[in-house]
Amino acid sequence: MQLTRKGLWGGIIREFREFLPEIQDDAVTTLLEGNTPLVECVNLKDLFGELRLMLKFEGLNPTGSFKDRGMTMAVSKAREEGAKAIICASTGNTSAAAAAYAAKAGMRAFVLVPDGQIAMGKLSQAIMHGAMVLQIKGNFDNALEIVKEITRDYPIKMVNSINPFRIEGQKTGAFEVCEHLGHAPTYHFLPVGNAGNITAYWKGYRQYYGEGIISNLPKMMGFQAEGAAPIVLGHPVEEPDTLATAIKIGNPASWDGALKARDESGGVISSVTDDEIIEAYKLLAAREGVFCEPASAASVAGVIKMKKEGVLNDGDTVVCTLTGHGLKDPDIALKSSEKPIKVPADTAKILKVMGF
Ligand code: F0G
Repeated sequence: MQLTRKGLWGGIIREFREFLPEIQDDAVTTLLEGNTPLVECVNLKDLFGELRLMLKFEGLNPTGSFKDRGMTMAVSKAREEGAKAIICASTGNTSAAAAAYAAKAGMRAFVLVPDGQIAMGKLSQAIMHGAMVLQIKGNFDNALEIVKEITRDYPIKMVNSINPFRIEGQKTGAFEVCEHLGHAPTYHFLPVGNAGNITAYWKGYRQYYGEGIISNLPKMMGFQAEGAAPIVLGHPVEEPDTLATAIKIGNPASWDGALKARDESGGVISSVTDDEIIEAYKLLAAREGVFCEPASAASVAGVIKMKKEGVLNDGDTVVCTLTGHGLKDPDIALKSSEKPIKVPADTAKILKVMGF
Protein backbone atom coordinates (compact mmCIF):
# COMPACT_ATOMS: atom_id res chain seq x y z
CA MET A 1 0.00 0.00 0.00
CA GLN A 2 1.20 3.50 -0.75
CA LEU A 3 0.76 6.25 1.81
CA THR A 4 -0.79 9.43 0.44
CA ARG A 5 -1.77 12.78 1.96
CA LYS A 6 -5.20 12.54 0.39
CA GLY A 7 -7.95 13.82 2.64
CA LEU A 8 -5.75 15.40 5.30
CA TRP A 9 -7.21 18.60 6.65
CA GLY A 10 -5.16 21.80 6.26
CA GLY A 11 -6.97 24.14 8.66
CA ILE A 12 -9.73 26.59 7.76
CA ILE A 13 -7.59 29.12 5.86
CA ARG A 14 -6.26 26.55 3.39
CA GLU A 15 -9.56 24.67 3.10
CA PHE A 16 -11.79 27.72 2.55
CA ARG A 17 -9.31 30.09 0.94
CA GLU A 18 -11.60 31.15 -1.91
CA PHE A 19 -14.23 32.36 0.57
CA LEU A 20 -11.85 34.25 2.87
CA PRO A 21 -9.82 37.46 2.60
CA GLU A 22 -6.44 36.86 0.97
CA ILE A 23 -3.53 35.97 3.22
CA GLN A 24 0.10 35.48 2.24
CA ASP A 25 1.11 31.86 2.48
CA ASP A 26 4.05 32.44 4.79
CA ALA A 27 1.86 34.32 7.29
CA VAL A 28 -0.63 31.49 7.71
CA THR A 29 -0.62 30.39 11.35
CA THR A 30 -2.66 27.26 11.90
CA LEU A 31 -3.15 24.50 14.43
CA LEU A 32 -5.34 22.70 11.86
CA GLU A 33 -8.55 23.99 13.40
CA GLY A 34 -12.00 23.30 11.94
CA ASN A 35 -13.43 20.11 10.43
CA THR A 36 -15.30 19.47 13.68
CA PRO A 37 -17.97 16.76 13.79
CA LEU A 38 -21.67 17.33 13.36
CA VAL A 39 -23.03 14.74 15.75
CA GLU A 40 -26.64 13.62 15.44
CA CYS A 41 -28.65 13.26 18.68
CA VAL A 42 -30.18 9.80 18.71
CA ASN A 43 -31.36 9.30 22.29
CA LEU A 44 -33.57 12.31 22.91
CA LYS A 45 -36.72 11.40 20.97
CA ASP A 46 -38.71 11.70 24.22
CA LEU A 47 -37.86 15.41 24.20
CA PHE A 48 -37.57 16.25 20.55
CA GLY A 49 -39.74 13.73 18.71
CA GLU A 50 -38.92 13.64 15.01
CA LEU A 51 -36.84 16.78 15.10
CA ARG A 52 -33.41 16.13 13.57
CA LEU A 53 -31.04 17.61 16.15
CA MET A 54 -27.37 17.92 15.21
CA LEU A 55 -24.53 19.13 17.42
CA LYS A 56 -21.65 21.03 15.81
CA PHE A 57 -19.07 20.13 18.42
CA GLU A 58 -16.61 23.01 18.37
CA GLY A 59 -15.06 21.77 21.60
CA LEU A 60 -12.97 19.50 19.36
CA ASN A 61 -10.93 22.37 17.96
CA PRO A 62 -7.22 22.50 18.95
CA THR A 63 -7.69 24.70 22.01
CA GLY A 64 -11.14 23.30 22.75
CA SER A 65 -13.39 26.06 21.43
CA PHE A 66 -14.72 27.72 18.27
CA LYS A 67 -12.39 30.67 18.86
CA ASP A 68 -9.63 28.83 16.98
CA ARG A 69 -11.41 29.46 13.66
CA GLY A 70 -11.33 33.20 14.23
CA MET A 71 -7.91 33.22 15.81
CA THR A 72 -6.10 31.52 12.92
CA MET A 73 -7.36 34.34 10.68
CA ALA A 74 -6.72 37.20 13.12
CA VAL A 75 -3.22 36.03 14.03
CA SER A 76 -2.24 35.20 10.44
CA LYS A 77 -3.38 38.63 9.33
CA ALA A 78 -1.56 40.32 12.25
CA ARG A 79 1.57 38.42 11.26
CA GLU A 80 1.20 39.47 7.64
CA GLU A 81 1.00 43.09 8.82
CA GLY A 82 4.21 42.64 10.84
CA ALA A 83 2.62 42.80 14.32
CA LYS A 84 4.76 41.55 17.18
CA ALA A 85 2.05 41.34 19.83
CA ILE A 86 -1.67 40.70 20.20
CA ILE A 87 -4.11 41.54 22.96
CA CYS A 88 -7.66 40.59 23.92
CA ALA A 89 -10.24 40.79 26.65
CA SER A 90 -11.77 37.44 27.42
CA THR A 91 -14.09 35.32 29.48
CA GLY A 92 -11.50 32.58 28.91
CA ASN A 93 -11.73 30.87 25.54
CA THR A 94 -10.52 33.78 23.44
CA SER A 95 -7.53 34.13 25.77
CA ALA A 96 -6.68 30.43 25.38
CA ALA A 97 -6.88 30.61 21.59
CA ALA A 98 -5.00 33.92 21.39
CA ALA A 99 -2.22 32.54 23.58
CA ALA A 100 -1.88 29.34 21.55
CA TYR A 101 -1.87 31.00 18.12
CA ALA A 102 0.52 33.72 19.32
CA ALA A 103 2.86 30.97 20.53
CA LYS A 104 2.66 29.32 17.11
CA ALA A 105 3.32 32.64 15.36
CA GLY A 106 6.20 33.59 17.68
CA MET A 107 4.33 36.65 18.94
CA ARG A 108 3.61 37.98 22.41
CA ALA A 109 0.08 37.76 23.76
CA PHE A 110 -1.51 39.89 26.47
CA VAL A 111 -4.87 38.77 27.80
CA LEU A 112 -7.20 40.64 30.16
CA VAL A 113 -9.64 38.48 32.07
CA PRO A 114 -12.12 39.14 34.87
CA ASP A 115 -10.44 38.12 38.12
CA GLY A 116 -11.75 34.86 39.57
CA GLN A 117 -14.44 34.46 36.92
CA ILE A 118 -12.86 32.33 34.27
CA ALA A 119 -12.84 28.56 34.19
CA MET A 120 -9.70 26.79 35.37
CA GLY A 121 -9.02 24.98 32.11
CA LYS A 122 -9.03 28.22 30.13
CA LEU A 123 -6.77 30.03 32.57
CA SER A 124 -4.27 27.18 32.55
CA GLN A 125 -4.20 27.21 28.74
CA ALA A 126 -3.43 30.94 28.53
CA ILE A 127 -0.65 30.55 31.10
CA MET A 128 0.84 27.42 29.54
CA HIS A 129 0.97 29.02 26.09
CA GLY A 130 3.00 31.86 27.56
CA ALA A 131 0.57 34.76 27.44
CA MET A 132 0.82 37.53 29.99
CA VAL A 133 -2.41 37.02 31.90
CA LEU A 134 -3.77 40.18 33.50
CA GLN A 135 -6.65 39.53 35.88
CA ILE A 136 -8.64 42.69 36.34
CA LYS A 137 -10.94 43.60 39.20
CA GLY A 138 -13.87 44.09 36.88
CA ASN A 139 -15.96 42.20 34.35
CA PHE A 140 -15.46 41.33 30.67
CA ASP A 141 -17.05 44.57 29.49
CA ASN A 142 -14.55 46.61 31.56
CA ALA A 143 -11.68 44.53 30.17
CA LEU A 144 -12.81 45.08 26.57
CA GLU A 145 -12.96 48.86 27.10
CA ILE A 146 -9.38 48.83 28.40
CA VAL A 147 -8.20 46.73 25.43
CA LYS A 148 -9.84 49.21 23.05
CA GLU A 149 -8.02 52.09 24.76
CA ILE A 150 -4.66 50.33 24.68
CA THR A 151 -4.90 49.41 21.00
CA ARG A 152 -5.86 52.95 20.09
CA ASP A 153 -2.47 54.20 21.29
CA TYR A 154 -0.07 51.26 21.14
CA PRO A 155 1.04 48.97 18.28
CA ILE A 156 -0.61 45.84 19.60
CA LYS A 157 -3.16 44.00 17.49
CA MET A 158 -6.58 43.52 19.06
CA VAL A 159 -7.91 40.00 18.45
CA ASN A 160 -11.36 40.31 19.99
CA SER A 161 -14.20 39.76 17.53
CA ILE A 162 -14.31 43.50 16.77
CA ASN A 163 -11.36 42.50 14.61
CA PRO A 164 -13.19 41.64 11.35
CA PHE A 165 -10.84 38.75 10.58
CA ARG A 166 -12.16 36.91 13.63
CA ILE A 167 -15.64 36.95 12.12
CA GLU A 168 -14.24 35.87 8.75
CA GLY A 169 -12.64 32.80 10.30
CA GLN A 170 -15.63 31.87 12.42
CA LYS A 171 -18.04 31.96 9.50
CA THR A 172 -16.39 28.74 8.25
CA GLY A 173 -18.41 26.89 10.90
CA ALA A 174 -21.48 27.59 8.76
CA PHE A 175 -19.69 26.35 5.62
CA GLU A 176 -18.92 23.05 7.30
CA VAL A 177 -22.50 22.60 8.49
CA CYS A 178 -23.76 23.09 4.91
CA GLU A 179 -21.19 20.73 3.49
CA HIS A 180 -22.01 18.08 6.06
CA LEU A 181 -25.77 18.27 5.60
CA GLY A 182 -25.74 19.02 1.88
CA HIS A 183 -27.96 22.04 2.62
CA ALA A 184 -28.47 24.64 5.35
CA PRO A 185 -30.45 23.56 8.43
CA THR A 186 -33.95 24.87 9.16
CA TYR A 187 -32.73 26.45 12.41
CA HIS A 188 -29.30 27.23 13.78
CA PHE A 189 -29.06 27.68 17.57
CA LEU A 190 -26.10 29.36 19.29
CA PRO A 191 -25.21 30.73 22.69
CA VAL A 192 -24.72 34.51 22.57
CA GLY A 193 -22.15 36.41 24.62
CA ASN A 194 -20.25 39.10 22.79
CA ALA A 195 -22.38 38.15 19.75
CA GLY A 196 -19.48 37.60 17.34
CA ASN A 197 -20.29 33.99 16.56
CA ILE A 198 -23.94 34.46 15.60
CA THR A 199 -22.80 37.34 13.40
CA ALA A 200 -20.16 35.10 11.83
CA TYR A 201 -22.43 32.11 11.17
CA TRP A 202 -25.01 34.34 9.52
CA LYS A 203 -22.29 35.85 7.34
CA GLY A 204 -21.17 32.35 6.34
CA TYR A 205 -24.67 31.15 5.47
CA ARG A 206 -25.39 34.29 3.46
CA GLN A 207 -22.13 33.92 1.58
CA TYR A 208 -22.84 30.30 0.57
CA TYR A 209 -26.37 31.34 -0.38
CA GLY A 210 -25.04 34.25 -2.45
CA GLU A 211 -22.64 31.91 -4.26
CA GLY A 212 -25.50 29.53 -5.02
CA ILE A 213 -23.94 26.73 -2.95
CA ILE A 214 -27.05 26.43 -0.77
CA SER A 215 -30.60 27.26 -1.73
CA ASN A 216 -32.12 27.90 1.71
CA LEU A 217 -31.11 29.94 4.74
CA PRO A 218 -31.61 28.91 8.37
CA LYS A 219 -33.40 30.92 11.01
CA MET A 220 -30.76 32.12 13.46
CA MET A 221 -31.64 31.41 17.09
CA GLY A 222 -29.42 33.07 19.71
CA PHE A 223 -29.64 32.34 23.43
CA GLN A 224 -28.27 34.47 26.25
CA ALA A 225 -28.18 33.54 29.92
CA GLU A 226 -31.07 35.16 31.76
CA GLY A 227 -28.79 37.14 34.08
CA ALA A 228 -26.68 38.36 31.15
CA ALA A 229 -29.26 39.05 28.47
CA PRO A 230 -28.73 42.63 27.25
CA ILE A 231 -29.97 41.96 23.72
CA VAL A 232 -33.18 40.39 25.00
CA LEU A 233 -33.74 43.29 27.41
CA GLY A 234 -32.77 45.90 24.83
CA HIS A 235 -30.22 47.62 27.06
CA PRO A 236 -26.75 46.88 28.50
CA VAL A 237 -26.59 44.97 31.77
CA GLU A 238 -24.28 46.68 34.31
CA GLU A 239 -23.55 43.56 36.34
CA PRO A 240 -24.16 40.44 34.27
CA ASP A 241 -24.57 37.28 36.29
CA THR A 242 -24.61 33.63 35.21
CA LEU A 243 -22.73 30.46 36.05
CA ALA A 244 -22.03 30.13 32.32
CA THR A 245 -19.02 32.42 32.72
CA ALA A 246 -18.13 32.29 29.01
CA ILE A 247 -21.24 34.33 28.17
CA LYS A 248 -21.25 36.58 31.24
CA ILE A 249 -21.30 39.74 29.14
CA GLY A 250 -23.44 42.83 29.64
CA ASN A 251 -22.67 44.91 26.55
CA PRO A 252 -21.87 42.77 23.50
CA ALA A 253 -19.54 44.27 20.90
CA SER A 254 -21.42 42.70 17.97
CA TRP A 255 -24.89 43.63 19.24
CA ASP A 256 -25.89 44.99 15.80
CA GLY A 257 -24.62 41.88 14.06
CA ALA A 258 -26.80 39.71 16.28
CA LEU A 259 -29.90 41.81 15.58
CA LYS A 260 -29.18 41.68 11.88
CA ALA A 261 -28.82 37.88 11.97
CA ARG A 262 -32.09 37.58 13.87
CA ASP A 263 -34.08 40.00 11.73
CA GLU A 264 -32.79 39.02 8.30
CA SER A 265 -33.26 35.31 9.02
CA GLY A 266 -36.60 35.59 10.81
CA GLY A 267 -35.05 34.11 13.93
CA VAL A 268 -35.13 34.78 17.65
CA ILE A 269 -32.84 36.07 20.37
CA SER A 270 -34.07 34.88 23.72
CA SER A 271 -32.72 33.77 27.08
CA VAL A 272 -32.54 30.64 29.20
CA THR A 273 -32.05 30.35 32.96
CA ASP A 274 -28.95 28.89 34.59
CA ASP A 275 -31.05 25.90 35.67
CA GLU A 276 -32.13 25.30 32.07
CA ILE A 277 -28.50 25.57 30.94
CA ILE A 278 -27.32 23.02 33.51
CA GLU A 279 -30.18 20.67 32.62
CA ALA A 280 -29.20 20.71 28.94
CA TYR A 281 -25.49 20.43 29.83
CA LYS A 282 -26.09 17.28 31.86
CA LEU A 283 -28.51 15.83 29.33
CA LEU A 284 -25.99 16.02 26.48
CA ALA A 285 -23.21 14.49 28.57
CA ALA A 286 -25.30 11.71 30.12
CA ARG A 287 -27.47 10.72 27.15
CA GLU A 288 -25.54 11.69 24.02
CA GLY A 289 -21.95 11.27 25.21
CA VAL A 290 -21.10 14.86 24.35
CA PHE A 291 -19.41 16.93 27.06
CA CYS A 292 -19.60 20.63 26.32
CA GLU A 293 -19.14 23.60 28.62
CA PRO A 294 -22.17 25.19 30.29
CA ALA A 295 -22.33 28.24 28.00
CA SER A 296 -22.44 25.93 24.97
CA ALA A 297 -25.46 24.14 26.38
CA ALA A 298 -27.44 27.39 26.26
CA SER A 299 -28.05 26.51 22.60
CA VAL A 300 -29.63 23.15 23.44
CA ALA A 301 -31.53 24.71 26.37
CA GLY A 302 -32.89 27.07 23.72
CA VAL A 303 -34.04 24.13 21.57
CA ILE A 304 -35.83 22.59 24.56
CA LYS A 305 -37.55 25.91 25.26
CA MET A 306 -38.57 26.49 21.64
CA LYS A 307 -39.83 22.91 21.32
CA LYS A 308 -42.02 23.41 24.41
CA GLU A 309 -43.34 26.66 22.93
CA GLY A 310 -44.32 24.80 19.76
CA VAL A 311 -41.98 26.74 17.50
CA LEU A 312 -40.18 23.70 16.07
CA ASN A 313 -41.75 21.03 13.90
CA ASP A 314 -41.13 17.35 13.19
CA GLY A 315 -38.78 17.01 10.25
CA ASP A 316 -36.98 20.31 10.93
CA THR A 317 -33.20 20.07 10.89
CA VAL A 318 -31.83 21.90 13.90
CA VAL A 319 -28.12 22.53 14.36
CA CYS A 320 -26.71 23.63 17.73
CA THR A 321 -23.19 24.98 17.95
CA LEU A 322 -21.55 23.54 21.05
CA THR A 323 -18.95 26.24 21.38
CA GLY A 324 -16.50 24.77 23.90
CA HIS A 325 -15.37 21.52 25.52
CA GLY A 326 -16.67 20.45 28.93
CA LEU A 327 -13.13 19.83 30.19
CA LYS A 328 -12.58 23.59 30.16
CA ASP A 329 -14.64 23.88 33.33
CA PRO A 330 -14.31 20.75 35.50
CA ASP A 331 -15.44 22.68 38.61
CA ILE A 332 -18.96 23.12 37.32
CA ALA A 333 -19.10 19.53 36.15
CA LEU A 334 -18.25 18.26 39.61
CA LYS A 335 -20.47 20.75 41.41
CA SER A 336 -23.51 19.95 39.31
CA SER A 337 -23.35 16.16 39.48
CA GLU A 338 -23.34 13.34 42.02
CA LYS A 339 -20.18 12.74 44.01
CA PRO A 340 -18.12 9.60 43.31
CA ILE A 341 -18.80 6.81 45.79
CA LYS A 342 -16.03 6.07 48.29
CA VAL A 343 -15.56 2.33 48.81
CA PRO A 344 -13.06 0.10 50.58
CA ALA A 345 -10.59 -1.85 48.40
CA ASP A 346 -12.70 -4.97 48.79
CA THR A 347 -14.25 -6.82 45.85
CA ALA A 348 -17.23 -8.21 47.78
CA LYS A 349 -18.15 -4.82 49.18
CA ILE A 350 -17.74 -3.12 45.83
CA LEU A 351 -19.97 -5.71 44.15
CA LYS A 352 -22.61 -5.02 46.78
CA VAL A 353 -22.48 -1.26 46.12
CA MET A 354 -22.72 -2.07 42.39
CA GLY A 355 -25.97 -3.89 43.08
CA PHE A 356 -24.85 -7.46 42.37
N1 F0G B 1 -19.66 29.88 24.12
C1 F0G B 1 -18.41 29.92 24.62
C2 F0G B 1 -17.85 28.66 25.16
C3 F0G B 1 -17.67 31.13 24.61
O1 F0G B 1 -16.44 31.13 25.10
C4 F0G B 1 -18.27 32.29 24.09
C5 F0G B 1 -17.57 33.56 24.09
C6 F0G B 1 -19.57 32.19 23.58
C7 F0G B 1 -20.23 30.97 23.61
C8 F0G B 1 -20.29 33.34 23.00
O2 F0G B 1 -19.79 33.66 21.74
O3 F0G B 1 -19.10 35.98 22.22
O4 F0G B 1 -19.27 35.13 19.89
O5 F0G B 1 -21.32 35.50 21.24
N2 F0G B 1 -16.47 33.74 24.66
C9 F0G B 1 -15.66 34.97 24.58
C10 F0G B 1 -14.31 34.76 25.21
C11 F0G B 1 -16.35 36.18 25.00
O6 F0G B 1 -13.69 35.72 25.67
O7 F0G B 1 -13.83 33.64 25.23
P1 F0G B 1 -19.88 35.16 21.22
